[in-house]
Amino acid sequence: MIEEALRALANGEFILLYDFDDREGETDLTIRADAVTPAHVRQMRKDAGGLICTAVHPEAAERLGLPFARDILSTSSLVEQDGDIPYDPKNHSSFSLWVNHRETFTGITDRDRSLTITAVAEQVQRSLNGGGHNFGAHFRTPGHMPLLRAAKRLLDERCGQTELSVALADLAGITPAVTVCEMLDDETGLALSKEDARAYARKHGLVFIEGKDVVEKWSSR
Ligand code: 5RP
Ligand code: ZN
Ligand code: CA
Repeated sequence: MIEEALRALANGEFILLYDFDDREGETDLTIRADAVTPAHVRQMRKDAGGLICTAVHPEAAERLGLPFARDILSTSSLVEQDGDIPYDPKNHSSFSLWVNHRETFTGITDRDRSLTITAVAEQVQRSLNGGGHNFGAHFRTPGHMPLLRAAKRLLDERCGQTELSVALADLAGITPAVTVCEMLDDETGLALSKEDARAYARKHGLVFIEGKDVVEKWSSR
């Protein structure tokens, strides 16, 4: 299944990525950022319904000057503290900055978000190739695309969908920028159950995998 997931991800198809029964218990609709089109953004907002975010590799985040949001908000009394995340009290959220590409209009439309997402992927790849970059020349913050910064040692340090998706990209040998969106249940407003997420995957011919499958592959690489 993990090999199928890596192939699907490399092919620019959505995969369904569930984290763990003892963590969020959520499934993210997940796709390589450089393949995202306006139709993919539409599918994420209509079928998944959570927050559309783009996870980036820590090395690229470092080179592009993308900090953890908590570090730049640290003077605020609202800033996240140790133990604040109820499903993962030993870790922090992975939020970095929220950006719009400078050529977007409002930033929220399917076209605008897909433009921002693919442009982020382009900068991630450029930075990893050692190319010159000036992230601020292309993007402004605040914006409508939350970026997630994966932990420095990826799954050896934190096991959120941020690290799971970036580790998958790494294993697939593709640009390590991955767009994710939590699947919510339209009836209850809660996280879509694992069974219903599996049913969605079957209906749409998509691969469903769990965090434990990714960790197993990561540990044996
Ligand atoms: C952003 C989130 C999601 O849960 C997303 O899956 C990334 O977070 P994590 O790495 O903690 O799973 O909070 O919408
Ligand atoms: Zn640009
Ligand atoms: Ca998550």
